Amino acid sequence: MLKLQKGKAIIDQHDKHYLYGGKFGGNFVPETLKKPIEDLTQLFQKLRYDKKFIKERDYYFKTYVGSPTRFIKLYNLSLHLEGAQIYAKVVSDANGGAHKIYNAVVHALICKHAGKKYIIGDTGAGYAGKMLSMAAKKFGLKCKIFMGTKDMARQKVNCDAIRKNGAEIVPVDSGSKTLVDAVSECMRYWVSNCDTTHMCVGSTVGPNIFVKICAWSTAQISRELKVQLKEEFGEIPKKLKLINCVGGGSSAIGFWNEFMDYDKKQVEFIGVEAGGPKNSKLHAAPLTYNAKLGVLHGAAQYVLQDKDGQISETSSISAGLDYPGVSPLHCFLKDTKRARYTVATDEQALEAFKLVSQLENLRPSLEPSHAFAEAIKIAPKLSNDTVIVVDSCGDALKDKKIIEKRLGKLIWQH
Ligand SMILES: Cc1ncc(COP(=O)(O)O)c(C=O)c1O
Repeated sequence: MLKLQKGKAIIDQHDKHYLYGGKFGGNFVPETLKKPIEDLTQLFQKLRYDKKFIKERDYYFKTYVGSPTRFIKLYNLSLHLEGAQIYAKVVSDANGGAHKIYNAVVHALICKHAGKKYIIGDTGAGYAGKMLSMAAKKFGLKCKIFMGTKDMARQKVNCDAIRKNGAEIVPVDSGSKTLVDAVSECMRYWVSNCDTTHMCVGSTVGPNIFVKICAWSTAQISRELKVQLKEEFGEIPKKLKLINCVGGGSSAIGFWNEFMDYDKKQVEFIGVEAGGPKNSKLHAAPLTYNAKLGVLHGAAQYVLQDKDGQISETSSISAGLDYPGVSPLHCFLKDTKRARYTVATDEQALEAFKLVSQLENLRPSLEPSHAFAEAIKIAPKLSNDTVIVVDSCGDALKDKKIIEKRLGKLIWQH
């Protein structure tokens, strides 16, 4: 069985081919991208240990992102479910309403340090695009966002925000017209423009350097959580469960990063993928349903594919989770058995949204609603001294239309 190394950051636990566990990740890229990727790798390796850069990052995390985000007890939900105590890390407090801002700010800073004026990125739910357009505006960069036309239609609120920030949206009408095609198109554009343009990948996916930068950025979430848990309990609780939705996996990695060395009996990681519509064969859950190893967007990973290796169609009510692959880091965590992965269906996520928003002053977007669905499922079976923390990593405003359509207009009035 594969093993995690204690005391070493998970992003650095790869071999000389940038493969985790000898099989996940790597740099499967065209020849033309080898040099820009090598340059970016060297620049980031320098910056991540540079005290001045860390100070700069922390300054913007505090004064622009709004770190630390809240850590709150969900009293009513805990009382209602009668089992474990449920808390939320309200990452949706962050400027722009989701965790994607951490990666976007770090990429914009790297872009400036590389002396480039143009920045591009992909988006599914629109948050990664919105945040990159915000960071670009903040740091005076010209920005293009690649987005599938299906996602543009269902996440209009975030599209409007991207344009308001002065960025251009490049509609991607190929394939499934979702995130997977947006990432491909963005990478294609980078191949011909890498001399002048920096590329941000919106999750812990893509060639190794993008996995690393993204996980290094979102790790801020678990740094804060560790402090907040110690303040609340005086120590890291003996029975702690950290539940997070998983699309590409950036939010979950950031939420778990600082707890990697704890025994899983003390700190359990639970990743919740998109189970898709009830009674449908379609989903976006490569880890839960044991998808085969394949290469997508420059990295080896478990990826939903047919018997000929063609990428399979996916379906999820949540644009942010609607992706056929998953971060090599999560593949590694699955094979080392450090994390457990499961699914919530569209309907379970909607029910979870309903319960949480009715009982608490919190409106998780459809992505974290998947994580809440798992918390709601397991909490009643657990003892009162078990602490569940759900990463409420996105705000539901972008999903208002979908939620109203499925649950009625009254739901929004709570
Ligand atoms: C709010 C929110 N949560 C979760 C995700 C899923 O991405 P990841 O797994 O990289 O956190 C997205 C993606 O757009 C998102 O917008």
